Amino acid sequence: MKNIVLIGFMGVGKGSVAREIVKQSDMIALDTDDIIESMENRRIKKIFAEEGEEYFRALERKVALWLQKEVKGTLISTGGGFFKVPNLSKIGTVVFLSAPFEVIYRRILEHPDAEKKLRKRPLFQDVERAQKLYEERAVSYKKVADIIIDVQDKTISDIAKEILKKVK
Ligand code: S3P
Repeated sequence: MKNIVLIGFMGVGKGSVAREIVKQSDMIALDTDDIIESMENRRIKKIFAEEGEEYFRALERKVALWLQKEVKGTLISTGGGFFKVPNLSKIGTVVFLSAPFEVIYRRILEHPDAEKKLRKRPLFQDVERAQKLYEERAVSYKKVADIIIDVQDKTISDIAKEILKKVK
């Protein structure tokens, strides 16, 4: 069975959707940021601060090659920039979670842990910059996706159901 690879912008809900898919199916979930943090034994924020973004991107490419080679039938959630790895389509069915920037930003702000959610994301320190990054990436996410799911105004449960139905 093929992997499902969730891609999309920071804060769009890849982690929440992954956890819900796990609930609704017998799949096991992996998260590329979590893998990188355990490989490095330090947080993403620290990796960016101490080594820079390019070092982090190289780790993403390393994880992507491992996933392609070793992982099957798994739900894989990814960091917002992971979609750029050259072998993405070889890892599994790529599902893009799509929502307007305003909706994503509001979702983060409404979270009880909003401050922490923003603090841990080095590329979401400045709203205008984050919005620019969103605009730069919007087309590319769509290009690499096998399936596009509009997540606006849908419950996490319905999004998970829709994905499981579409990948079958
Ligand atoms: C990034 C998104 C983050 C994390 C890193 C870089 C990005 O993951 O991988 O901070 O380039 O968009 P989330 O999408 O889970 O925030």
